[in-house]
Amino acid sequence: MSHSAFEPHALGQLTLSNHIVMAPMTRSRAVGNTPTELMTEYYRQRATAGLIITEGTSPSPNGLGYSRIPGLFDKKQVAGWKRVTDAVHEEGGHIFVQLMHTGRVFHPANLPDGAEGVAPSAVAAEAMIWTDEHQMQPQSTPRALLTGELTRVRDEFARSAKLAISAGFDGVELHGANGYLLEQFLHPQSNQRTDDYGGSVTNRARFVLEVTRAVADAIGVDRTGIRLSPWGVNGDMPHYAEIDETYAYLAEELQRIGIAYVHLVNHASMGAPALPARTVEIIREKFTNTLILSGGLHTVEAIDAALTTGHADLVAIGRPFLANPDLVARLKNGTPLATPDTSTFFSPGPNGFAQGYTDYPTAA
Ligand SMILES: Cc1cc2nc3c(=O)[nH]c(=O)nc-3n(C[C@H](O)[C@H](O)[C@H](O)COP(=O)(O)O)c2cc1C
Repeated sequence: MSHSAFEPHALGQLTLSNHIVMAPMTRSRAVGNTPTELMTEYYRQRATAGLIITEGTSPSPNGLGYSRIPGLFDKKQVAGWKRVTDAVHEEGGHIFVQLMHTGRVFHPANLPDGAEGVAPSAVAAEAMIWTDEHQMQPQSTPRALLTGELTRVRDEFARSAKLAISAGFDGVELHGANGYLLEQFLHPQSNQRTDDYGGSVTNRARFVLEVTRAVADAIGVDRTGIRLSPWGVNGDMPHYAEIDETYAYLAEELQRIGIAYVHLVNHASMGAPALPARTVEIIREKFTNTLILSGGLHTVEAIDAALTTGHADLVAIGRPFLANPDLVARLKNGTPLATPDTSTFFSPGPNGFAQGYTDYPTAA
């Protein structure tokens, strides 16, 4: 296997043109929770990434906890995403959708009519959340899912994964990281269940593994990946005693299922606790298919180190892709990188949604 960042990499049935993945990034431009023409343009501009992973996209109305995030559960959303995948494929790129069910991370003002915030337990995240109607608000308390409802939630993921394939996606990344529904099951603070889905390590991992199996059965193991954030604290996820044990077990079971990749988040570059090298090694030992590492890998040196000594098969890059649509060429040519404007990460600028989104130029 080649370790050069700019050489191809085989992922399932796909041949990625390089080892650089665009990390999933919520941009909150999906008015009405449906992908727009502007989003098509944004992803088209970034199609020289070896693989694009889309912004978090909900498989269910109940998972639309943030304002203006896209969904993938109805016909209009499938049609909108089809335009995006066609554009990326026309440019020779590949694209996975990240399925993100926000679970307890929500405010009722962000949810469509008839939807509700649901989670493993009725425990609110101690954090604030943006709403278009009332600006920042404390997060709300979710309703605990009944044991008998879990099959339906699992099936929402599998159905959405099938819709993803009909919308032209090359595969699906399950968002098992950053404090959303799947991680809420893994974590003993957000998961205080007393049924088979709470308590022990195996019980807390059960729902994540059932969803992964259902999605892999629906679309194929080679088109299924998962993102995980051991030691991450986003979404009010404090550290607990069995973190390494939990992820060692998960990694072993994910390998048994045989999915295409595990994608690990390290948010040290965003001021959060670092992902210890030890944890990466534990996961690497148990999970032998493609391992993607992400977080602060913004120079050719850092990328090469991750691909050689750091155990990564691919690297995912986030923020630099925002201001540098041609990031791969810039890294390859040593062209200086532009800095993204943080004020337009999740909201339009005074000139509208395109500002800080599709108006970053490629290098001259
Ligand atoms: C604007 C923005 C939105 C993000 N949205 C998501 C998301 O939807 N799903 C996700 O898994 N991570 C999300 N992240 C985290 C990134 O994927 C990535 O892990 C993080 O930016 C660290 O990588 P970097 O140092 O290369 O930027 C987001 C990050 C940013 C800056």
